[in-house]
Amino acid sequence: MDIREKKDIIILAIESSCDETAAAVVKNGTGVLSNIIASQIEIHKRFGGVVPEIASRNHTLALPSVTESALSAAGLDYGDIDAVAVTYGAGLLGALLTGVSYAKGLSYALKKPLMAVSHVRGHIAANYIAHRDLTFPYVCALASGGHTAVLEVKDYGDIEVIGATKDDAAGEVFDKVARALGLPYPGGPKIQELAAEGKPVINFGKPYSGGNGYDFSFSGLKTAVINYIANSKGEFNAADVAASFQFAAVSRIKTTALKAAVDRGIKSVALAGGVGANLKLRAELTEACATAGIKAYFLPLELCTDNAAMIAAEAYFMIKKGKPFAATDLDAQANLAGYIG
Ligand code: KG4
Ligand code: ZN
Repeated sequence: MDIREKKDIIILAIESSCDETAAAVVKNGTGVLSNIIASQIEIHKRFGGVVPEIASRNHTLALPSVTESALSAAGLDYGDIDAVAVTYGAGLLGALLTGVSYAKGLSYALKKPLMAVSHVRGHIAANYIAHRDLTFPYVCALASGGHTAVLEVKDYGDIEVIGATKDDAAGEVFDKVARALGLPYPGGPKIQELAAEGKPVINFGKPYSGGNGYDFSFSGLKTAVINYIANSKGEFNAADVAASFQFAAVSRIKTTALKAAVDRGIKSVALAGGVGANLKLRAELTEACATAGIKAYFLPLELCTDNAAMIAAEAYFMIKKGKPFAATDLDAQANLAGYIG
């Protein structure tokens, strides 16, 4: 029987694009039966950031047990799965390759079709799981360690990139500023914690105003903060630096997401990606959206940061939209065409 004709479709998804080895079992795109994440944060912490080769090696070690855990937490066996899904890009090439190879092996051995999923589209698909009342079109602000973009989600799979970062991603800059402040990896949550004790009294410059009016640049902000710390020769208030940096970073994301929604007459804004966990960003966006008569949607933390449930969700709607399954020559891609693949 063609899988597309089945009433229920159960997908086993694998995600290994950065430093989280993840597997999830999801029924009909939104019913999360299990969502297992083996984080490598402790392994990479001592290097102050993700070391790609070490990430790949640890994915290889973790993939079988994470997959078994996802199946057993779902109360299912390999035979109960209708399709396998995997993140094929964007991300660290070696890390992606481990997941793609493993998923190809599973698909071949189980004789189940394989869907290749864009990591960026996966982050957006986390909204399908969490927000049953979110209707198209909506603006999605995606801010993670690898991506920062504002997109219009018009339908399942029909996504327009309105603006994107021209250089660093927001999360990457949170992590680099944290490192400059002597905070451990990953820096986002640590900056948030420290910022709560400080005030945004330092001006780290104006946001990028080039591009199409919706694009981002975070590298100037990063340099401004790092230079400020270096020039202060130890005489600075770390909490104020964190608060001022966070204010500047969060404002850029909030303002751009809101501008996109207002300009297009769209009444919903959803936040996705690891930086979407940031409480200051959530608070600012909530307030700005309320003033503009727009509804803001936030994900639970486990669906903000990397996970495989979002990959299964995207794969389900790809299947429903008739997207072709992957062939056995599927390869990993560090960068995706058109930003979202
Ligand atoms: O989406 P994600 O798990 O991985 C990528 O696809 O990159 O995002 C990870 C990023 C890291 O840079 C981390 O520092 C950031 O999300 N992050 C945060 C917070 N929690 C995680 N940034 C700011 N505030 C947070 N609370
Ligand atoms: Zn991600």
